[in-house]
Amino acid sequence: MTELELLAQHVSEGLAAPQKALSPAWFYDDEGSRLFQQIMALPEYYLTRAEHALLEARGDELAALIDPAGQPLDLVELGSGDGSKMLGLLGRLRARNPGTVYRPVDLSEHALTELARRFGEQLPELTLAPVRGDYFNAWPPAGAGRRQVALYMGSNLGNQDQPGALSLLRRIRGKLRPGDALVLGLDMVKDPRVILAAYHDGQGVTARFNLNLLARLNRELGMDFALDRFAHYACYNPLDGAARSFLVSALTQEVHSSHLGRSFHFAAGETIYTEQSQKYTPAMVQALAEQSGFEPAGLLLDEAGWYGLAFWRVADKG
Ligand SMILES: C[S@@+](CC[C@H](N)C(=O)[O-])C[C@H]1O[C@@H](n2cnc3c(N)ncnc32)[C@H](O)[C@@H]1O
Repeated sequence: MTELELLAQHVSEGLAAPQKALSPAWFYDDEGSRLFQQIMALPEYYLTRAEHALLEARGDELAALIDPAGQPLDLVELGSGDGSKMLGLLGRLRARNPGTVYRPVDLSEHALTELARRFGEQLPELTLAPVRGDYFNAWPPAGAGRRQVALYMGSNLGNQDQPGALSLLRRIRGKLRPGDALVLGLDMVKDPRVILAAYHDGQGVTARFNLNLLARLNRELGMDFALDRFAHYACYNPLDGAARSFLVSALTQEVHSSHLGRSFHFAAGETIYTEQSQKYTPAMVQALAEQSGFEPAGLLLDEAGWYGLAFWRVADKG
């Protein structure tokens, strides 16, 4: 299926469901990738800074976990975005092991172009092999005798609910071989007010990012969403540790798609569920590793306990 066919199928199903929903994977067209770069710089959006600071503060430790013996190594980053946070860690890994290859996989051409520019300027000695596509369909094959370490950063796993996270982790596990490993960047449970503010910033950038999804559907599926008839809404529920974002229809309306040849009805106040951002406790991280067939081998937390880097191994055949 082409990307457009996938989007068309996703939207037909998602907007016809009793609770309308769209997957956050579709946020990242070129404009969405640009807006996400702005989000990462927002004062309220602590996640990127916390992950970056942790990668710097504990980078040597993480590099030693990833590459203990200097074997030929491929780092496959799933949904790398512009990769800016990874420069320090990749510099450390390249210094330990000149044969290290960085294979960022992303759907967004804009993100990969930005990544190649940045790495070309700041870490030209690293072997870079970007892959544009869906991470599972485009997963780069492991070369003979080379270890693969998958990186899934930016709390991207948190976009999945519990069954979705398990199934995604099991698919990653299915791509890896004994001796390989996975690094996960995970946002930890903390003060709910801090979490909510990260999805509801004062400058309205998160709102523009959420609404951009509708602009994308207008462009790619010939839809006629009026963006000023929808509003961004975010909430955080400490009972299940999930922040959730929605688009709320301000009035009763019909939205038509010329590409799909159909309309969708919205009641006043009806919501489209667009994103979940799960927060984790150390016990949840341990349980996820075990349930998805990995061996948890380290959870590096920052001093405040706000953010974690989990290191999971694929056990050697015993
Ligand atoms: C939230 S951004 C995170 C970027 C970066 N990892 C970080 O931590 O800042 C998610 C990235 O994943 C990419 N992405 C989402 N779903 C994907 C998929 N199925 N295959 C490949 N890339 C995907 C998006 O294009 C986007 O660049």
